[in-house]
Amino acid sequence: MSAFNAQRITAMQWLSRQLLNQDVAGRYFDPLIEPLNPRWALGRMIATVERIEDETHDTRTFVLRPPRRWRGFLAGQHVTLALDINGVRHHRTFSLACAPETWQREGLIRITIKRTPEGLVTPWMHKNLYRGGALEISEAFGNFLLPDVEAPLLYIAGGSGITPILSHLESLACREYTAPITLIYCIRSAQDQIGAQQLEQLQHKLPLLNCQIIRADQGEGQPPRLLQASDIDSIKNIQARHCYLCGPTGLMAVATTLLETRDVPEEQVFQTFFAPLTNPLTDTAGGAVTLMRSNRELTVDSGQSLLEAAESAGLSPRFGCRMGICHQCSCRKTTGTVVNRNTGHVSGPGEETIQLCVSVPQGPVSLDL
Ligand code: FES
Repeated sequence: MSAFNAQRITAMQWLSRQLLNQDVAGRYFDPLIEPLNPRWALGRMIATVERIEDETHDTRTFVLRPPRRWRGFLAGQHVTLALDINGVRHHRTFSLACAPETWQREGLIRITIKRTPEGLVTPWMHKNLYRGGALEISEAFGNFLLPDVEAPLLYIAGGSGITPILSHLESLACREYTAPITLIYCIRSAQDQIGAQQLEQLQHKLPLLNCQIIRADQGEGQPPRLLQASDIDSIKNIQARHCYLCGPTGLMAVATTLLETRDVPEEQVFQTFFAPLTNPLTDTAGGAVTLMRSNRELTVDSGQSLLEAAESAGLSPRFGCRMGICHQCSCRKTTGTVVNRNTGHVSGPGEETIQLCVSVPQGPVSLDL
């Protein structure tokens, strides 16, 4: 974005804040427009569910048509969906499971979602989303991206961690990639394999793609088959590979150690994983927050992130994953201390960049927001 555009947007935001008390002017009119048709929303990006495909007993692919002004994505990126469930808004981040080239050609994207039985959002999506329905989608983000040059690749996926890798492989097939590619896909059982048909087709399109499916269920009385050293040692030229890992933390830890001990350079290893927020907050978290550019004062309690607090005050700060991964919510803190609720890290008292979605104030804080 040019400096001129950045300035113009800031001026527009300023005007919108003065006249409508909103960062994005369109949001002011959305409550009037959306009851007529949610797809006409000006301040939000609404995608249409074009179709729903069953992948496995607990996983479905939602084929969505984003609005025309959606900016597209790169292979391996993610989007955040916003869903209103029983009057409460929930945000969840999912990988795109298709190639950008498909979206450019057909205007459609694929999001493959496993139902987590103990969860709230994914069972709701499986039960309530329907063909023709509408849902809010963010712009794409993430840096789990293909290398700029043709290089031999190694993918290690576990369970639904295959989805951003399907996006990579489909994109590579569109580019007629000629370097060797190895995929090691770890699943519980044959019934749990996501993208089986897609992978079969990809093997025809990518002659140098070698797919190894590792099933944990080896049969009665056998210990589960997990990723092991011999799986990596059978790969030719491992130190030259760009390695992409996506799956449960246990698998990622094993894979990272195996690659490290085989001298694969750290800068050639990329991982992506959406972990829930785990660290409990200190009981001293919470405090008064001054939003300097908006000229607002908020009181934030220990259960609320700065992003949630700003949104409750009617502001619309930029965000992506809402989980501390993408840095799209980064903001300048000018004074005060914040706690990162993912890591428990306590910031310094001075000026620094923080992530609004995972930061909770510890006492008075001022933000350049
Ligand atoms: S929204 Fe992604 S890091 Fe905050």
